[in-house]
Amino acid sequence: MNRVMLVTGGGDCPGLNAVIRAVVNRASQEKNWEVIGSIEAFNGVLREPTEIVVLDSAKVAGIHYLGGTILQTTNKGGPFSWPVKNNDGTWSCVDRSDEMIRKLSYLGVDAVINIGGDGSQRISQKLFEKGLNIIGVPKTIDNDLSATESTFGFQTAVQIATEAVDKLVTTAQSHNRVQILEVMGRDAGWIALHSAIAGGAEICLLPEFPYDINKVMEKIESRFHKGRGFVNIVISEGARSINGYNVAQLSTEPGYENRVLGGIGFQLEKELKAAGCEYSIRTTVLGHLQRGGIPNAYDRILASRFGVKAFELVLEKKFGNMVSYKNNEITYVPIKEAIEKLNRVTPDTDLLKTALGLGICIGI
Ligand code: F6P
Repeated sequence: MNRVMLVTGGGDCPGLNAVIRAVVNRASQEKNWEVIGSIEAFNGVLREPTEIVVLDSAKVAGIHYLGGTILQTTNKGGPFSWPVKNNDGTWSCVDRSDEMIRKLSYLGVDAVINIGGDGSQRISQKLFEKGLNIIGVPKTIDNDLSATESTFGFQTAVQIATEAVDKLVTTAQSHNRVQILEVMGRDAGWIALHSAIAGGAEICLLPEFPYDINKVMEKIESRFHKGRGFVNIVISEGARSINGYNVAQLSTEPGYENRVLGGIGFQLEKELKAAGCEYSIRTTVLGHLQRGGIPNAYDRILASRFGVKAFELVLEKKFGNMVSYKNNEITYVPIKEAIEKLNRVTPDTDLLKTALGLGICIGI
């Protein structure tokens, strides 16, 4: 019996269950293949007793439209940074990757499919370099992986953000207000850019272009006449002003190495008031609403395509690669290449030109 192990790591994302189902259903068409899943990324393998489940067609039936992941996920711990509590109550991280690879061999795991974003694929690459047979599946609502033109979860997040803009437009209009909507996007402003265009916002502030508060003020002023008017601003959580910093906190959760972003919307509100904005301002932080719930049809289809291809790469022993979407086809790229560079909005980005053509101010 051959065994492939599935792992979902990093932040969750609509479409993860559709990938899991696709791998299992494709594998069930081959003789002598069993699919297992590790609970909470690789932590299920590392825990004692291990937390591993067998995944068959019955177990994954009908999960394609469910949000979240039946395998659960985490961005804490993992084979290279397992948190250990010291005697003085502080935490440090230890490398348990060799031990984990040995454990996988005792468990009879022939290959691993790691579904995750850039952090998870960095782990994939390191494990591949240590000899593990691994295939990556890209996942991120931020759409910030450069080796694939699209990642599942992104379109769902854009839809949710657009619906939020739509709702805020009507209330901004009724109250002659400035409405600020903060959306996700740590390093890349794709969700903000797409939802600002789709929702008809007037200002869109992105991590890639630090904003000048005076330019933002100019745009606001141009939208009001004798106190009447309204403005909708979409801002990425990773945005900052030319004089400012990212609004982020260090996490107190052991093993969580990311900075926790969130709050730039409120910061912008303060900056606008300090710059003399006299209009009424309200701020909404959309947060994890963008990541939960059911994936839309596009994301379910992309996730299913990725899952089928990932298992086929296992059959073909194309280890060290990540599935990728290019020119409307599912292909693959070396994981090493996939983690080299992020996909960010640049001055040449066609969609940015559309935004500017529509008169959207990006604060520069
Ligand atoms: O990377 C995806 C993402 O949703 C970011 O947009 C966001 O900053 C981060 O994850 C939030 O992570 P967590 O769920 O750990 O707070």
